[in-house]
Amino acid sequence: MKRAKITIVGAGNVGASCAVWAAEKELGDIVLIDIPDLGDRTKGRALDLAQCAPVDRFDCNIIGTSDYAAARDSDLVIITAGLPRKPGMSRDDLVQTNVKIVRAVSEQIKETAPEAILIVVSNPLDAMVYTAWQTTGFPTHRVVGQAGCLDIARFRTFIAMEVGCSVEDITSLLMGGHGDDMVPLPRYTSIAGVPVTQFISEERLNEIIQRAKMGGGEIVKLMGTSAYYAPSAGTIAMAEAIIKDKKRILPCAAYCDKEYGVGGYFVGVPCVLGAKGVEKVIEVDLNAEERKLFSSSAQHVRELVSLADKFLKE
Ligand code: LAC
Repeated sequence: MKRAKITIVGAGNVGASCAVWAAEKELGDIVLIDIPDLGDRTKGRALDLAQCAPVDRFDCNIIGTSDYAAARDSDLVIITAGLPRKPGMSRDDLVQTNVKIVRAVSEQIKETAPEAILIVVSNPLDAMVYTAWQTTGFPTHRVVGQAGCLDIARFRTFIAMEVGCSVEDITSLLMGGHGDDMVPLPRYTSIAGVPVTQFISEERLNEIIQRAKMGGGEIVKLMGTSAYYAPSAGTIAMAEAIIKDKKRILPCAAYCDKEYGVGGYFVGVPCVLGAKGVEKVIEVDLNAEERKLFSSSAQHVRELVSLADKFLKE
């Protein structure tokens, strides 16, 4: 059987980390693309990674280039291009610059890989998925954003630290936009099937929820730039679900119209991810409080999308 072809646009920290995990998991051949201004750096990064193969024993071709011709007929394209946050910035501060970058990238992808499934990782995430969708005109099930896998991983990490249990045994659900008003759902969080509230007091759980919501900012403060290992791990979990047609249920920024009453843009919801991309958006029951939190996060996404729309028209 033919190997999958994965193009990763943006060979910075997030893109390069995605390439590492995709290679380690032998998900397919990898094309790493970045701007020509970087000279041979992208080529060098790819060669460096290719030389891990004999040590870690994976077989895939990895190339780095600034030429989009190399992306031709990719099965999956991961867009990480764009500026990351600096301390004091919110994700939303990046919208004007990153709309232009993601639009330029999406135009190239539309030409070279018209059948690909797109995973968008650039920030502000929900607006960038929308930008990629608008620019490529791809069907909505082939455009999806990574945010929930990261956000929920943060929540699960903090719960495991608190309880002293394996992160593997924690399952949870998180919805809404990829902003500080994202909505972790403790009612849908359990440890080995036991509701999390049997392990952690409500007060402490609220503190953990707050830390998870601000988790991106915590890393920016510590490092002076955005996180990249966990965002990439989340992205490659999605890529693996698609390439292996696993039908995993993961929280992703997916197109919602009637679903949750969203009305025609991308926001974090639980989805079935498989070979066709987003194969289904799952509508879970939300109580009044959860619905309120989700609606306010979705309203924020709507405002960001309008802003992106304005810059898209410029
Ligand atoms: C974060 C950035 C990548 O949440 O959005 O870390």
